[in-house]
Amino acid sequence: MSASHILEFMHKRRSVMARHMLAPGPDAAALEQILTIAARVPDHGKLAPWRFVVVQGDDRATLGAVAQAAFVAGNGDAETSLQEAAAQQFLRAPCVIAVLARPVTHPKIPRSEQILSAGAVCMNLLMAAQAMGFAAQWLTGAAAYEPAVLARLGGQDGDEIAGFMYLGTAAEAPSERPRPALDEIVHLGLPEVAG
Ligand SMILES: Cc1cc2nc3c(=O)[nH]c(=O)nc-3n(C[C@H](O)[C@H](O)[C@H](O)COP(=O)(O)O)c2cc1C
Repeated sequence: MSASHILEFMHKRRSVMARHMLAPGPDAAALEQILTIAARVPDHGKLAPWRFVVVQGDDRATLGAVAQAAFVAGNGDAETSLQEAAAQQFLRAPCVIAVLARPVTHPKIPRSEQILSAGAVCMNLLMAAQAMGFAAQWLTGAAAYEPAVLARLGGQDGDEIAGFMYLGTAAEAPSERPRPALDEIVHLGLPEVAG
């Protein structure tokens, strides 16, 4: 692929909402390629402070049941539809990859840098899957902050769920969404500061 093709892909790529995903998801070979590219990220100190848990098939409902139980425990009076949504969230796509940030205590490399590296993993994973023609979306939702969900994923003390990466086949092509104007987010040169 030429540089111009890569740039065109990066300019135009879009996520597909999980609820617009169908089977198939990636097969074993595609999954290996996606995960290999996902792990090829800047990583200060070569700590590899991230892990992947591939959730497919019945595991999606098993994890959803954990998310539902946690949701109900924290929101006893929530509507039944919300409880059901918590249970079914991982069924929206044929494949969900949980990316865990696993920062370690290090004398020079702060935790924040290790979490940023996990974010880079998520973005690489998203782009690899999209470049291969899969529908993909990076989601968290309340389940990402439930200790019981983290524990069911094999999370350890200090781990965080950086994202649930939903992968499948697009039921419909996504339309473009507005992006911030560069002049609102970029300052060319140092800004004026008081003092
Ligand atoms: C860390 C993170 C968590 C996110 N969690 C959610 C979420 O729970 N629900 C949601 O609707 N969008 C969530 N998003 C946003 C979507 O991934 C994304 O904005 C949308 O799919 C459009 O992406 P695109 O710019 O790649 O097309 C999250 C994004 C990030 C970076």
